[in-house]
Amino acid sequence: MGNLTIDNLRVTLNNRQMLESVSLSVCHGERVALLGRSGSGKSLTARAVLGLLPAGAKASGTIRLGGIDVLPMPALARPATARVAMVMQDTSSALNPLATIGYQLRQPLQHCRGLSPRQAASEVADLLLKMGFTAPHDIVNRYPPELSGGQRQRICIAMALASNAPFIIADEPTTALDVVTQAQILKLLRSVTADPAGPGLLFITHDLHAASHLCDRALIIENGCIVEEGAMSQILHAPRQIYTQNLVGSAHHCVVACEKVFA
Ligand SMILES: Nc1ncnc2c1ncn2[C@@H]1O[C@H](COP(=O)(O)OP(=O)(O)OP(=O)(O)O)[C@@H](O)[C@H]1O
Ligand SMILES: [Mg+2]
Repeated sequence: MGNLTIDNLRVTLNNRQMLESVSLSVCHGERVALLGRSGSGKSLTARAVLGLLPAGAKASGTIRLGGIDVLPMPALARPATARVAMVMQDTSSALNPLATIGYQLRQPLQHCRGLSPRQAASEVADLLLKMGFTAPHDIVNRYPPELSGGQRQRICIAMALASNAPFIIADEPTTALDVVTQAQILKLLRSVTADPAGPGLLFITHDLHAASHLCDRALIIENGCIVEEGAMSQILHAPRQIYTQNLVGSAHHCVVACEKVFA
């Protein structure tokens, strides 16, 4: 059974149809890209999975996490086996600017995993090393505004891992970053989701280039419907839908332009 299975999800917002027919499934240890133009319904799909749809939203269909139908359950009422960790684009609003990095990372370790403060502090140091920070003792005492965007995104990925959630959604985690930092974050996401028994990843993006570096499979969403689905190689080399063909075409132009700039 898939770790995340969405079946015929429909969402209206103030009586306007926003998601019409979203069905998808992501297994343990699988990395799947959700690609689509701005406004196509990517983040709304993520919010439905998280149990955080905006006020005025009505949803039907099923969303199963670890076999449990979570659609009728508010986020906080869900059991640990049906939890989702979220990595967002805007790291400044994802982290509390008034609490140190160490404090924020210890919270999920103590409250979700039941570690003692001492065990949590040692786990935080290990996590920070894994995220590529060479001096964890310095980072734990800093506040989010004292870090760069790329460093904050690495903290958000550490936070997702600290909660031990069986599923991770990353919504445009690299969009606000420069190309070199983007590559570092993609590499990190790849390494933390490399275990086939580990968390599944739904990677939301409109950047086909980034998706092709990270994901094995891709889903294309247009006007609130999944219109195409396939292995990443099929999407790249034999796209069926016009939108996907345009996406592949523009990604190719972008790569050629970058090659010219850096030649
Ligand atoms: N809180 C809200 N209130 C009203 N409409 C909303 C709200 N959130 C999203 N929408 C609408 O729902 C549709 C889907 O939005 P969504 O945020 O899922 O797009 P997206 O695919 O994530 O786009 P982007 O790539 O720009 O982030 C859009 O038409 C958007 O205007
Ligand atoms: Mg979005």
